[in-house]
Amino acid sequence: MELLRNVVVLLHIVGFAITFGAWAAEAAARRFRFTRLMDYGLLLSLLTGLALAAPWPAGIDLNYPKIAVKLAILLVLGGVLGMGSARQRRTGEPVPRALFVAAGVLSVTAAGIAVIW
Ligand code: HEM
Repeated sequence: MELLRNVVVLLHIVGFAITFGAWAAEAAARRFRFTRLMDYGLLLSLLTGLALAAPWPAGIDLNYPKIAVKLAILLVLGGVLGMGSARQRRTGEPVPRALFVAAGVLSVTAAGIAVIW
């Protein structure tokens, strides 16, 4: 059970790596677009995060305020990606720069809270 939990934590971190990595790749290439990969990474973070939010194996102590804050950030990030992607599809232009920066900041903030809190 312990090993399974650790594997789910690994997948949870891979989800973050995919979202932030896809964002960083767009920023480095100066394309400033939202991509499907960012959505997939976020979905992986959400599904694995929900699985980890259940107290298993028995006796594990979880920091629920921290989990709630990360869930809130993830939902806002999902909204930002959704809004930006819709606008991108409609106009064919990259997302507004503020929205693009917000996505990266939210992603790193969630990871920072996970590791530092
Ligand atoms: C973009 C959003 C998120 C990021 C970047 C993120 C990042 C991380 C990272 C790096 C860890 C490993 C470090 C640690 O154990 O503290 C972690 C653990 C964890 N995350 Fe997240 N997370 C996110 C969203 C969520 C959500 C939405 C939930 C639940 C609804 C969640 C639940 C958990 C739990 C329960 C752990 C602890 C695992 C354990 O110690 O057994 N996370 N998260």
